[in-house]
Amino acid sequence: MFSKKKELFSNLKDFAGPSGELTLLEIGAGTGANFEFYPAGCRLICNDSNDNFNKFLYKSLSQNPHLQLERCVIAPAEDLQQIPNASVDVVVCTLVLCSVKSIERVLSEVCRVLRPKSKDLVGWIPPGS
Ligand SMILES: C[S@@+](CC[C@H](N)C(=O)[O-])C[C@H]1O[C@@H](n2cnc3c(N)ncnc32)[C@H](O)[C@@H]1O
Repeated sequence: MFSKKKELFSNLKDFAGPSGELTLLEIGAGTGANFEFYPAGCRLICNDSNDNFNKFLYKSLSQNPHLQLERCVIAPAEDLQQIPNASVDVVVCTLVLCSVKSIERVLSEVCRVLRPKSKDLVGWIPPGS
């Protein structure tokens, strides 16, 4: 998946807000396997429902000092009430929707937290590619 992820995440900077900063929420971040693909200076909000991943996630953060951790939200992605409306530029979610309880509720939360301009632009790696 390395080359697919590299390609998919290559334009993340284009989603930066008016200040030039990019705030990225990763849902179900797990061990932080996607962190190496995020651009320098990216402000990262990590979400996972399972806090047992935290120590691996912090290890991955220490290996990716180009990222700024804003916060970790331990909660089901179906209910991200700790994250304000229209506050993030990008939401990343890989290998997670197959295990959530409600895809509809997760996607509804994704739409709520994304800044309006970000909703038009969606990246997708088809399963099995
Ligand atoms: C297969 S791992 C994928 C981790 C990472 N996204 C990746 O691509 O390597 C699935 C992750 O989703 C998390 N997860 C499962 N259900 C969740 C939910 N409802 N809300 C948030 N995270 C969830 C799990 O705890 C786990 O960290």
